[in-house]
Amino acid sequence: MIEESEDFLRAMTTLGDGFLVVVPTETVYGLAADAYNSDAVAKIYATKGRPAFNPLIFHYFSAERVLEDVEADERFDALAKAFWPGPLTMVLRRKKQSKASSLATAGLDTLAVRVPSHPVFRALLESYPHPLAAPSANPSTRISPTKLMQAQTYFKSSPYVKAYLEGGASVFGIESTVVDLSDKTAHLLRPGIITQEAIESVIGPILGITSTGMIKAPGQMKKHYAPSIPVRLNATFVRANEALLAFGPTPLEGAGTVLNLSETGDLLQAASHLFSYLHALDNPRFQSIAVMPIPNGGVGVAINDRLHRASVRENED
Ligand code: TXA
Ligand code: MG
Repeated sequence: MIEESEDFLRAMTTLGDGFLVVVPTETVYGLAADAYNSDAVAKIYATKGRPAFNPLIFHYFSAERVLEDVEADERFDALAKAFWPGPLTMVLRRKKQSKASSLATAGLDTLAVRVPSHPVFRALLESYPHPLAAPSANPSTRISPTKLMQAQTYFKSSPYVKAYLEGGASVFGIESTVVDLSDKTAHLLRPGIITQEAIESVIGPILGITSTGMIKAPGQMKKHYAPSIPVRLNATFVRANEALLAFGPTPLEGAGTVLNLSETGDLLQAASHLFSYLHALDNPRFQSIAVMPIPNGGVGVAINDRLHRASVRENED
């Protein structure tokens, strides 16, 4: 039983004491704090170097527990039924009596909520009495971790991160889809594994990121998920000293080091490899990472969104 393991008990105590725990999720590893404790939440911002205007996602064991903090409607019910537990985050109006840390919501009157599916994280959420605020477990603008070791490397000298829960490689490998339901018109704020089409098949037409121009989640900086060497997108050839991030059955020729996101051209498989391959190729012995084109449909929209952010050199926000 995971609940009786030493790591699990340490995680419970750490949260109760107002410190941080690295948790596995089906999307990426998260850096979790008690979402009702602003002192604990402040440690997330300090550890990541995250701007305080960028709010966090609240994670819950069940849709029923979510209702303690937000005002729901039929769209919420339908999407929760279709996609939870799983990689979908919904932004909803916060209830007046909610105890949510206003640091975690960046002072907004809305809350981003998600019920994840990873069994280890679910066990923690079931046992801990409050929801957990958790961004991806990486310093701001660095690549999100899909393996525990990557998070351990990022935070090994942090005084606040006091427990780590192992949960294997994250199966989806990119962050949850974020949909804003706080308005009459639903908006897609961040593309993910649950595609716009999948959401529309449940609640009808929503505004996509392409129709609104740019992603509007507060604090969504253009630069994000960045390796420390340049990333060159839609490559049709490989330069000397470049590593290649390939896609599909016919990788470009000429690269000494090649990682293929999916030899069969499977977008789900490509998403699950994306961050760990960027991590692996992020090495100063390469001048840059050349990335082959990825089709921009379905899950490809989310992959291209992350790749675009990884390729931006200056923080343009
Ligand atoms: O898959 C995931 O969602 C991972 C795992 C750990 O659950 N978490 C994650 O958190 O990606 P983070 O902090 O890296 O991204 C949260 C996103 C940000 O784009 C933020 O701006 C948006 O959610 N967000 C949070 N609260 C919001 C709100 N009230 N209104 C609009 N956007 C919000
Ligand atoms: Mg993140």
